[in-house]
Amino acid sequence: MQPSPIGIFDSGYGGLTVLKDIRARLPQYDYIYLGDNARAPYGNRSFDTVHRYTWECVQWFFKQGCELVVLACNTASAKALRTIQQNDLPREAPDKRVLGVIRPTTEMIGQVTQTNEVGILATSGTVLSESYKIEIAKFFPAVNVVQEACPMWVPLIENNEHNSEGADYFVRKHLQQLLQKGPSIDTVLLACTHYPLMKDKISQLLPRGMRILSQGPIVADSLAGYLGRHPNMEARCSKGGTLRFYTTDSTEDFDNHGSLFFGAGVESAHVELP
Ligand code: DGL
Repeated sequence: MQPSPIGIFDSGYGGLTVLKDIRARLPQYDYIYLGDNARAPYGNRSFDTVHRYTWECVQWFFKQGCELVVLACNTASAKALRTIQQNDLPREAPDKRVLGVIRPTTEMIGQVTQTNEVGILATSGTVLSESYKIEIAKFFPAVNVVQEACPMWVPLIENNEHNSEGADYFVRKHLQQLLQKGPSIDTVLLACTHYPLMKDKISQLLPRGMRILSQGPIVADSLAGYLGRHPNMEARCSKGGTLRFYTTDSTEDFDNHGSLFFGAGVESAHVELP
């Protein structure tokens, strides 16, 4: 079997924030990134739809030869990963692996909070799935999880309006609502691929001393740990240090937005799905 690139999936550009940290931590591997921009955003879609779209994209990665795929999208991790791991993979691709971004974060968040109350900022879909509450309860049953859906934040960031005064209103509003529901919160998780782009603003508007966690470095560390614990899978990942980008929508649009999320130039190719 030929070693193959690691697949990194997101509904659109946002997962590039995660890929950036994965690549910084594990530069030796080859990566293929796919953004399903033609059908994004996923944040308000139903479980069935997010699962169907995500599984189609995962199958595309498998056709490219990928053995390991990371769902860098919180909404896809919340609404599709369990079905893919429990039903689709055993039936269709038992030797391949698909990982998400929620588990790595929930495994460590209870070690960070001192007050045992954490805030989750995410899309409506991720919040409604209750995935963070369920997963954190498995590892840290004493931790109270307070969620806040921020449906305006993704469009503000995608339209490059996140540094405007208009954006301040929506950022302040959701942070206030979060802290009203959870007055003891000392740790806030940015549980959406896009929110790291607003980390500075969020930290200015939150009380001093609050810990704000972005997922990229956590997911990167977790992937490094996974590859260390699974030498068979590690051997199946090719090591040429290359990077390829694909989108299901306009490459011009992906490349323009992509550099904002990736922090470097991005050149994509178009993919037609399914
Ligand atoms: N990538 C999504 C997430 O992390 C945000 C964008 C979307 O709603 O598709 O939840």
